Amino acid sequence: MILEHLSLLNYKNFDQKEFHFDSKINCIVGDNGKGKTNILDAIYHLSFCKSYFNPVTAQNIRHGEDYFVINGTYNHDDREEKVVVSFKKNQKKTVKRNNKIYDRLSDHIGLIPAVIISPADRDLITEGSETRRKFLDGVIAQNNKPYLEQLIAYHKIVAQRNALLKYFAKNNTFNSSSLSVYNDQMEKLGQKIHDIRKKFILVFGPILKQHYAAISSGSESVELLYKSDLNDQDFETLLNNNIQKDRIAQYSSVGVHKDDLLFKIDNHPIKKFGSQGQQKSFLIALKLAQFDFIKQQKKITPLLLLDDIFDKLDEQRVAKIIQLVDDDFFGQIFISDTHHERTETAVKAVHQSYQFHHL
Ligand SMILES: Nc1ncnc2c1ncn2[C@@H]1O[C@H](COP(=O)(O)OP(=O)(O)O)[C@@H](O)[C@H]1O
Ligand SMILES: [Mg+2]
Repeated sequence: MILEHLSLLNYKNFDQKEFHFDSKINCIVGDNGKGKTNILDAIYHLSFCKSYFNPVTAQNIRHGEDYFVINGTYNHDDREEKVVVSFKKNQKKTVKRNNKIYDRLSDHIGLIPAVIISPADRDLITEGSETRRKFLDGVIAQNNKPYLEQLIAYHKIVAQRNALLKYFAKNNTFNSSSLSVYNDQMEKLGQKIHDIRKKFILVFGPILKQHYAAISSGSESVELLYKSDLNDQDFETLLNNNIQKDRIAQYSSVGVHKDDLLFKIDNHPIKKFGSQGQQKSFLIALKLAQFDFIKQQKKITPLLLLDDIFDKLDEQRVAKIIQLVDDDFFGQIFISDTHHERTETAVKAVHQSYQFHHL
């Protein structure tokens, strides 16, 4: 998959901007605040129908304007794919593939696989479980459409069940048969989601270990564990056992919407016990594993978006990544950096075509 052409209209700090990209390495260079990250984000937006950095779509519109358009032309096996994401204030976002509007944005996910490596990834370690669930779901959904649909349906049921719990509390009433209608649907969908996540971790864990070993110089080993209420209890029992708690909280306190991923280094949580360097290596390994997994599953090489990579990584780790470029592990790459020279030195070491885009 190659992004050949990108045009932006009122996206973040750009009024109008066009790019023709190299099929291999693209270096986006400019001072801080020029919009390097915003360009990578626009490319991300074309793949995932949303921004990686600011999920509030209205805030992606250039200040003072009331719409944005992102237009991408791709080449996939010599076939052209045109993707247009457009958003006007107070309207629904539309995504078009070859001039046809998608009924549901979720239908687009997976068409243009992409992986972003950014300093913001540290949230995966420092933030709460929701960030890690989103990562987990994002990787699975790239190659599993039914999963995304089940997930959306599950969240809808949880929201309805929560509304019912609130209604019970407010009106001082309770009706177990109306609750069980929601429980049934939650159990069915939740069990499926749990099974898919569990299977995924079994495949993904070893890929992560392998990339961590390649990128780090240490001998420590990392592990990815799947934490879920459903690991040791079936969903029905779990819901029944927690009904009093749910009624008091007016909220569904157990289920796969509470799942988490545990990141461990030599058997200890990496958040508490990993050094800065180990955490950085872990995050890159996680993203490289995501890249590898999607590439294996979909037989399409994802676009790789490397934000501020030279700023945040030591030379040794950059060299490891560059080596992967030379080994043809990657396809098309977009690199952002503030310094032309160090970027050029790094990409020259790779025997591939490259282009600079100055902002
Ligand atoms: N909706 C928006 N409208 C106008 N400018 C925006 C919007 N969102 C972000 N920006 C601007 O984009 C700039 C940052 O761009 P960014 O891509 O992060 O820069 P870089 O990566 O080159 O340092 C900031 O100056 C910020 O104010
Ligand atoms: Mg930036």
